[in-house]
Amino acid sequence: MKTTIDNVPNLNKAKERKKIPTQFLYIDENKSNHDEYFKDKRFFIRTYGCQANVRDEETIAGMLCGVGAKRIDNEYDADIIIINTCAVRENAEDKVYGQIGNLKNIKTKDRKIIAICGCMVEEPAILEKVMSMFPFVQLYFGTHEIYRCLDLIYQAMKSNERIVSIESKQGEVIEGLPCQRTHPYKAYVNIMYGCDKFCTYCIVPYTRGKERSRKFDDILKECKQLVDNNYLEITLLGQNVNAYGLDLDEGKDFADLLEAVAKLGIPRLRFMTSHPWNFNKKMIDVIAKYDNIMKFIHLPVQSGSDEILKKMARRYTREDYIKLVELMRKEIPSLNLSTDIIVGFPNESDEQFNDTLSLVDIIQYDSAFTFIYSPRQGTPAAKMEDKISYEEKSKRFKELVKHLEISISNSSKKMVGGVYPILVDGVSKTDVNMLSGYAENNKLVHFKGDVSLIGKIVNVKIKESHTYSLIGELTSE
Ligand code: SAH
Ligand code: SF4
Ligand code: F3S
Repeated sequence: MKTTIDNVPNLNKAKERKKIPTQFLYIDENKSNHDEYFKDKRFFIRTYGCQANVRDEETIAGMLCGVGAKRIDNEYDADIIIINTCAVRENAEDKVYGQIGNLKNIKTKDRKIIAICGCMVEEPAILEKVMSMFPFVQLYFGTHEIYRCLDLIYQAMKSNERIVSIESKQGEVIEGLPCQRTHPYKAYVNIMYGCDKFCTYCIVPYTRGKERSRKFDDILKECKQLVDNNYLEITLLGQNVNAYGLDLDEGKDFADLLEAVAKLGIPRLRFMTSHPWNFNKKMIDVIAKYDNIMKFIHLPVQSGSDEILKKMARRYTREDYIKLVELMRKEIPSLNLSTDIIVGFPNESDEQFNDTLSLVDIIQYDSAFTFIYSPRQGTPAAKMEDKISYEEKSKRFKELVKHLEISISNSSKKMVGGVYPILVDGVSKTDVNMLSGYAENNKLVHFKGDVSLIGKIVNVKIKESHTYSLIGELTSE
């Protein structure tokens, strides 16, 4: 198959941060010029990775549905198969290789198109590997090309060529694209795109472009629509929401935005992710002030060692972090705190790892995500010398999880006997006789109840606690 290269990714370009104003592009029509082609097509999308990717999937699905294509949930019957990928760690990547490999046997129909998009294809070495491993994949498009995906799919189909369209650039803000939401009452709303923090281990700033905020009024308009459509929960999304608005000249920051969205009256408001570096008192005050802002903060610490934090370019010390948490807990007594931690950063010593253990013992997290460091080609950390064996890293990982589980189960235990409002998500994945949903503090709760309660907020009395979930019963208390 002939390959047409529109653009290929380039890491030097991907890390460029020129001081030029962000371009805002308003699209008021979901046009493809090829509606006839899409009308009877069925499409399948699978997404890996973070909420940013989930929200991108909703845009791609919205664009395809907007021109008459139908979404189905099995790849075998689909005409268009899209795999939306994540590059944050090697294991995220490996899952995708497995998935694409399985598709080989189903590309039996001549006109079936397999497209790969998302963060993996933004990294040149990964793209090269995928292209040589899977010659049957016909389209590659990057995170900056989503708004052109209908044209690209059509072009690949029509020409029967392999098309690569991945431009490494700082990126625009594109408004007005359709969105088919995955969830009927919980919504993700992007408030900004990209990242300028360049933590030394992380690929995200290269795959997603510069930190750029959406305009205040555009975000409020989207949130207002969700409130009018009876959504119960909004999560404001950004790789680092604290930086919201700093790149615009609107005179508004994240605290202003959070307050304005809270005032729209959405029952539950969350946000992800906030960096410990510039989490200010104004933000804490707004979270404390509004009942509908959930008292849950995800505050990735990454390491408890000052030397490692410095090598990671995280811009705070262990002491700064502890002080910030103390202030948060003083102002928001019911706060639940979660975190991300990386074990085995290049040459992390026993002592440095012990600093992480002692930090988690001090902080007493309510939940946490833990990762073994995974070198990402093109990032500064991938070039650092690393004498620590993988075995040692796995051992540390297990030890860290043990420490974390103590505070996580203590925090769940404290809820036993109390009554909590639970947003009912659906039937429990582990027991069909139970419903499950999330408390305001993001703890997963299972209880017996009628399926008619799905999509409602109900009061549940907690009876039993496990490390990662709770069991309760419905109550009118
Ligand atoms: N912008 C967010 C999340 C980014 S990715 C933030 O800064 O919090 C989510 C998490 O993946 C990070 O917090 C980090 O803990 C982890 N991560 C990122 N790159 C990694 C790598 N190379 N190896 C292991 N974990 C990594
Ligand atoms: Fe990655 Fe750091 Fe940006 Fe988070 S803040 S996306 S960890 S570079
Ligand atoms: Fe993965 Fe890209 Fe998100 S690398 S974590 S999908 S920003």
